[in-house]
Amino acid sequence: MPVVAITGASSGLGAHLAEEMARRGHSLGLVARRVDQLEAVRARVAAHGVPVAVAPADVTDPAATKAAFAALEAELGPIDVLVANAGVLGPMRDLRHLDLDSIRRTFEINVFGAIHAVDAVLPGMLDRDSGHLVVISSVAANRGLPKSAPYSASKAAISIFWEGLRVDLHRTGITCTTVHPGFVETAMTAKNDFPMPFLMNADRAARLMADAIEAKRRTLTYPWQMRWLERLMKVAPPVVFDHVMRSVDKR
Ligand SMILES: NC(=O)c1ccc[n+]([C@@H]2O[C@H](COP(=O)([O-])OP(=O)(O)OC[C@H]3O[C@@H](n4cnc5c(N)ncnc54)[C@H](OP(=O)(O)O)[C@@H]3O)[C@@H](O)[C@H]2O)c1
Repeated sequence: MPVVAITGASSGLGAHLAEEMARRGHSLGLVARRVDQLEAVRARVAAHGVPVAVAPADVTDPAATKAAFAALEAELGPIDVLVANAGVLGPMRDLRHLDLDSIRRTFEINVFGAIHAVDAVLPGMLDRDSGHLVVISSVAANRGLPKSAPYSASKAAISIFWEGLRVDLHRTGITCTTVHPGFVETAMTAKNDFPMPFLMNADRAARLMADAIEAKRRTLTYPWQMRWLERLMKVAPPVVFDHVMRSVDKR
């Protein structure tokens, strides 16, 4: 039974993906900070009859992250799939007073948190010449979106990091998958006060991610409408991009 470890498993996409992977027969290791929520997810996952272990940790702390993954492996065996999902939005609202702590924290969690998780599992995967590294990035990784400069920049950084990993690991038995979700109904998006096109429910999102993980796809962008928008976003010249973003930001 393959072992899947998910960071940010206490809510939202991480929790839904944990349940979906359990439904498909995988063992689950769950990492996040909030112990009560993790225990609630553990109970839902265990109801599918698969082994599940919980290891509370803050992914910005490399030693704590390493210890959490070691605890999961002691209970479940070697981790076959890492899903680096823990993330925060860190919006940027006040341009006169940049919230440096919030910006730094966004990078600490979205970028270094994912890298700390890789650091914890990659040596073992290299020893076994097998494994799968998955990161939940965002369509925001493609361009600088309104009021989201820190978030977009952090997601761009981790998507590019993962792409570099994929290239470096191509002669090994380790696969890398980068996921770019559009808007999904979670606690993160519940705070948004702007229209969210093609908003998807978290169960459907989890099924799409589980399919991509099982198929060992290099990348996944969902929903399909966002896949097309992402292609357009990537090639739009700055003048066109700015015009579209200005009209989005006005609403
Ligand atoms: N929802 C969307 O529309 C959307 C779109 C694109 C990408 N994403 C990405 O999907 C991922 C999951 O987001 P979500 O929408 O499911 O949001 P969410 O419900 O707020 O979940 C975020 C998760 O990250 C964990 N987390 C945050 N900081 C952490 C830290 N320092 N250490 C360990 N865990 C931490 C939280 O757990 P604790 O608070 O318990 O630690 C929680 O489980 C994020 O990377 C996000 O950027 C979401």
